[in-house]
Amino acid sequence: MSADPGALSRARYLDLLEKTLQNAIYGESVVETKLKLWLQRLRHPYLTRRGAIPWPSRAHSMIGPQRLRNLRTLMERTLHEGVAGDYIETGVWRGGACILMRGALAAHGVRDRKVIVADSFEGLPRPDGDKYPDDRRDTAFAFSELAVPVDEVKKNFASYNLLDDQVIFLKGFFKDSLPTLPADSRFALIRLDGDMYESTMDALTNLYDKLSKGGFTIIDDYGGLKNCAKAVHDYLDQRGLTVDLHKVDDSCVWWQKA
Ligand SMILES: C[S@@+](CC[C@H](N)C(=O)[O-])C[C@H]1O[C@@H](n2cnc3c(N)ncnc32)[C@H](O)[C@@H]1O
Repeated sequence: MSADPGALSRARYLDLLEKTLQNAIYGESVVETKLKLWLQRLRHPYLTRRGAIPWPSRAHSMIGPQRLRNLRTLMERTLHEGVAGDYIETGVWRGGACILMRGALAAHGVRDRKVIVADSFEGLPRPDGDKYPDDRRDTAFAFSELAVPVDEVKKNFASYNLLDDQVIFLKGFFKDSLPTLPADSRFALIRLDGDMYESTMDALTNLYDKLSKGGFTIIDDYGGLKNCAKAVHDYLDQRGLTVDLHKVDDSCVWWQKA
């Protein structure tokens, strides 16, 4: 039997939360997903030729089971290893990954750490091809599906009873919003899911020095989007840093700050 009698209930709550966030209990409707893809193609003929992206119709997160579990595991490591600081995701969509982080704090009875929910809540920025040539062909800004209003994200938090003063919404494009974080902000974990070169670079530039030693960086789109991976390596090269990259799946990676 576990030495901590609350451990089993905590694990069960977090298992259920993970499943609910990805809508794995009832499952995404195949008909609805197909209809959405069809509508998406009508609106975005250019992307039709390259294949549309099947975002879930209802789930509160699109990152899937392995990445949700990775996020929970690394968060719990920060608590067990005593890594100081708050938690931030840059690029939250419907808020699911941040809801999991707030749920994990609740499950562990942590009252003195916050979850920062950073997004434009209006979708991705238009690429600035002059400043970031790697983003030149990025068309993600055109997808209205990626623009989830902040009130809808708040409503999602509230539906899990997880909307409170430990959740901070940071609205705006990262280049404008992240520099407004207090200078003494500290993070135990930073999760970057803004897809583009610009979004990844803005996040690393503004957050990496605020990440505690032993803290974790997660890059959702490293394997899936070349411009995202390029930003990671450009940043690490500029700073003369070498890191030990760990794979979560074919796209997501993480490393621990030395
Ligand atoms: C792939 S979705 C995030 C998925 C989310 N992490 C989840 O759990 O489902 C990308 C999000 O990043 C946001 N985003 C991307 N680049 C941004 C930027 N430069 N500034 C603000 N928001 C940005 C978009 O608005 C969108 O909500």
